[in-house]
Amino acid sequence: MDNNLDSKINRKISVAPMMDCTDRHDRFFLRLMSKNVHLYTEMVSTKSVIHGDRRKILAYSPEEKPLALQVGGSDKKELAEAAKIAEDMGYEEINLNLGCPSKKVQKNMFGACLMKEPDLVSECIHEMVKSCKIPVTAKTRIGFDDTEDFNYLNQFILKLNDSGCKTFIIHARKAILKGLTPKQNLNIPKLNYDMVYKIKKENPDLEIIINGGITKIEEIKNHLKLCDGVMIGRSIYQNPYFLTEIEREIFKTNNNPLREEVVEKLLEYLEKEVKLGTKVNHIMRHSVGLYHGQAGSKNWKRYLSDNMMARDSDFQKAKHIMTIAQNNEKANSVNL
Ligand SMILES: Cc1cc2nc3c(=O)[nH]c(=O)nc-3n(C[C@H](O)[C@H](O)[C@H](O)COP(=O)(O)O)c2cc1C
Repeated sequence: MDNNLDSKINRKISVAPMMDCTDRHDRFFLRLMSKNVHLYTEMVSTKSVIHGDRRKILAYSPEEKPLALQVGGSDKKELAEAAKIAEDMGYEEINLNLGCPSKKVQKNMFGACLMKEPDLVSECIHEMVKSCKIPVTAKTRIGFDDTEDFNYLNQFILKLNDSGCKTFIIHARKAILKGLTPKQNLNIPKLNYDMVYKIKKENPDLEIIINGGITKIEEIKNHLKLCDGVMIGRSIYQNPYFLTEIEREIFKTNNNPLREEVVEKLLEYLEKEVKLGTKVNHIMRHSVGLYHGQAGSKNWKRYLSDNMMARDSDFQKAKHIMTIAQNNEKANSVNL
C-alpha cells in the first residue's frame, strides 16, 4: 500500500509532540531557529478535530510548515475523518498517538493502551490511509506494563505496516499503564535503544525514528547511524536554541540567527498576534529557555515572569525585552 505521498518530508530530526508546549506559538518560535526540523502539534482528540473550533484548535501559521497533526483516538471512522480534515487543512502528515499513558487517555481508549489492540489499531490505520493522501504515521512505545518484548513490538509494527503505515516513531521506553503518572512514565521505565535499533535492522524498508532522553549532538549523530531519524522533546523545549546547533551540525546550515535576532522576530509575531487577540503570555511563555546556560538567563526569566506571564500582560512591556536581549548578546560575546 503506497498511495500515500511521503517523499518530501524530512524526518531526520523532529520536535516531539508535547501537550501544553508545542502549540502553534511555540512552533512558530522554534521555526525561527530551524527551517529543517519536522514539527508536530500537541495531541488532539479526534472528537476535537471533528467537532471543535478548527480555527482555534487546528490553525497554524504558514511559517510552521512542514507540520504534522497528531491525533488521539481509536474509532476508525473518526480517525479517517480526522485524517481527511488534516489533509484539507494543509498538514503534511497525520500521526496516531500510541504512546500516551495518562489515565484520562486510557479511559477514552487511546494512546499507549492501544498497543494491546493490534487488530483495532491496524483497522484504524487502514481507514486513515484510505481517507487521505498524506502519510499516516504512528508514535508508539517499545512496550507496556510487563510486555517489553522484541517479537511483540515487531509484530505490532508489521501489522500496522500492512495497513499502510511506513513511518514509526518509537519512544524507547515502555509505558506503565497503572501506578505511574504521565511524568513518571517519561523517566522511570528504562530506556532501551537497542530494541529500536533492532526494529530498524529487521525492517530496513521502514522509516524508524528513535525518541527518548536524547540531549546532545553526539548522541543524535550516533542514533542516526542506526535509525532514520531522531525525535527530541524536552531538551528542545527547555533549551530551544539547541535547534541552531542541530541546524549547524546535522543539517550543515550556516547563517543561523543570534538569540537577539530570534527575539526581534518573535516580537514582530507577538505584535501581530496581540492585535488578533492572542495573549502576550501565551506566546512569551515558550521563550523562557532561550538563554539556557547563558549569561543573562536569570535576567531574561525574571523579566518574563515579572512582566509578561500574567493573563493581562501588556504588549508595551514587550518592547523593553529587546534591551535585555541586546545586553545578553553583548555579555555572551564578551564571554566567548
Ligand atoms: C509536557 C509533555 C507533553 C507531552 N505530550 C505528548 C503528546 O501530546 N503526544 C505524544 O505523543 N507524546 C507526548 N509527550 C511525549 C514526548 O512526545 C516524548 O515522547 C517524550 O518526552 C520523550 O522524549 P524526550 O526525552 O526527548 O523528551 C509529552 C511529553 C512531555 C514532556
